[in-house]
Amino acid sequence: MKMTLDEKTLDSLNEEIRHCTKCRLWQSRKIAVPGEGPVPCRVLFIGEAPGNMEDKTGKPFTGMSGKFLDLMLNEIDMKRQQFYITSSVKCRPPKNRPPKDDELAICKENWLNKQIYLIKPQLIVLLGKTALKQMLGLNENLVNCHGRIIDYHGIECLITFHPAASMRFPKIRKEMKKDFQRFKEMINT
Ligand code: URA
Repeated sequence: MKMTLDEKTLDSLNEEIRHCTKCRLWQSRKIAVPGEGPVPCRVLFIGEAPGNMEDKTGKPFTGMSGKFLDLMLNEIDMKRQQFYITSSVKCRPPKNRPPKDDELAICKENWLNKQIYLIKPQLIVLLGKTALKQMLGLNENLVNCHGRIIDYHGIECLITFHPAASMRFPKIRKEMKKDFQRFKEMINT
């Protein structure tokens, strides 16, 4: 099938990401994880950072939290292949620590903003605290703000939990399921 210009451009951008040395995280990663999905795509999911499994496979959400994300999507009759999936930073931080502010800023400016421009989502699902900080600059407790929709340069951002948190805590899982129902309603209207 013929690729569009945006698809080709995103492919080469993602190839650049795989060789990125713009922040310190390249020193400890095995494989950078640019993300994957159709282009253009109505919905973009943004997580925190690659973990151990993603660092080995080069693909987003391939570990336990990825399986959990698949389950959550399954419950609303959707599958990950329908969406573009990426993370706030593209390289695994040492010992899975949260990405630092400068790492977030460098990755957003060099890669994430350009990916968003090419993917052209109408809705971004922010999975967890780091994605919320990365996209909206908010340092808020998710318990207070999940389910809210905030505008980011004309793109709706739905705030929810990271699947890793919801996997561990049943109360969070219940709330995340409500957010995913909301998500389903949003994309079915
Ligand atoms: N968590 C993330 O935020 N991204 C991944 O790719 C895997 C786990």
